[in-house]
Amino acid sequence: MSDDLAIRPIADDDLDAVLDVYRQCEDFLALGPVPDASLTMVLSDIGLSQACGGCYCGIYIMDGRMIGIVDYVPRNYEGDPRAAYIALLMIAAPFRRRGIGQAVLEAIEKKIRRDAQVNTILAGLQVNNPQAIHFWQRNGYRIVGGPELMPDRTTVYHLRKDLTPPSAPEPCTHHAARDSSRCGAQYDTHHTARSTQYAVKYEV
Ligand SMILES: CC(C)(COP(=O)(O)OP(=O)(O)OC[C@H]1O[C@@H](n2cnc3c(N)ncnc32)[C@H](O)[C@@H]1OP(=O)(O)O)[C@@H](O)C(=O)NCCC(=O)NCCS
Repeated sequence: MSDDLAIRPIADDDLDAVLDVYRQCEDFLALGPVPDASLTMVLSDIGLSQACGGCYCGIYIMDGRMIGIVDYVPRNYEGDPRAAYIALLMIAAPFRRRGIGQAVLEAIEKKIRRDAQVNTILAGLQVNNPQAIHFWQRNGYRIVGGPELMPDRTTVYHLRKDLTPPSAPEPCTHHAARDSSRCGAQYDTHHTARSTQYAVKYEV
């Protein structure tokens, strides 16, 4: 597998691929009230994301296959201009434990940090998902609330990571680093973030 990943908002003709990723994450879905992946579930998640100002993106390897989903609100979460929110990070089971989740999280955080107003990233995590708890804590997220029973019948911890200002300006790459303030097709930012193992190309 190539060490390169791309993240971009899903297109209409990506729905089958999204459903395939959900099917490969039914071990995770089984932790919640609806264990089986379905198009209804996918469309509901996309609708919720849109309603919250979210950016619902596919994670692609370089042969074009979608191998994960990341859904995040880059700013203004619940009306707070300083808060971002990561709603979902899901890597298809065969692609886990290769450092992809961490590389994607670092790339999304880097994207979020471009808005200097944002100083906190929030997330929610089901209490019965200990591996993921370890993953988030390893990446600097603290449990700041919960367990709380949510309307969707999941019980979650509330996670939070406070962003510190970068110590030095980010170096420019040969890619144009134009940014935009909302997620969607109008974005044409291309920027490469190097994690320990993967080059992650933003296409949002
Ligand atoms: C949680 C999740 C997103 C993490 O993604 P991931 O790609 O598996 O995570 P990473 O590979 O970056 O890191 C996870 C572990 O793999 C290890 N790892 C990283 N590279 C590795 C490699 N090449 N070989 C073996 N292990 C490796 C990491 O050290 C880490 O282990 P540790 O936490 O025990 O220290 C993923 O497991 C997932 O999608 N789970 C189902 C959905 C879910 O629970 N989402 C979170 C709630 S929204």
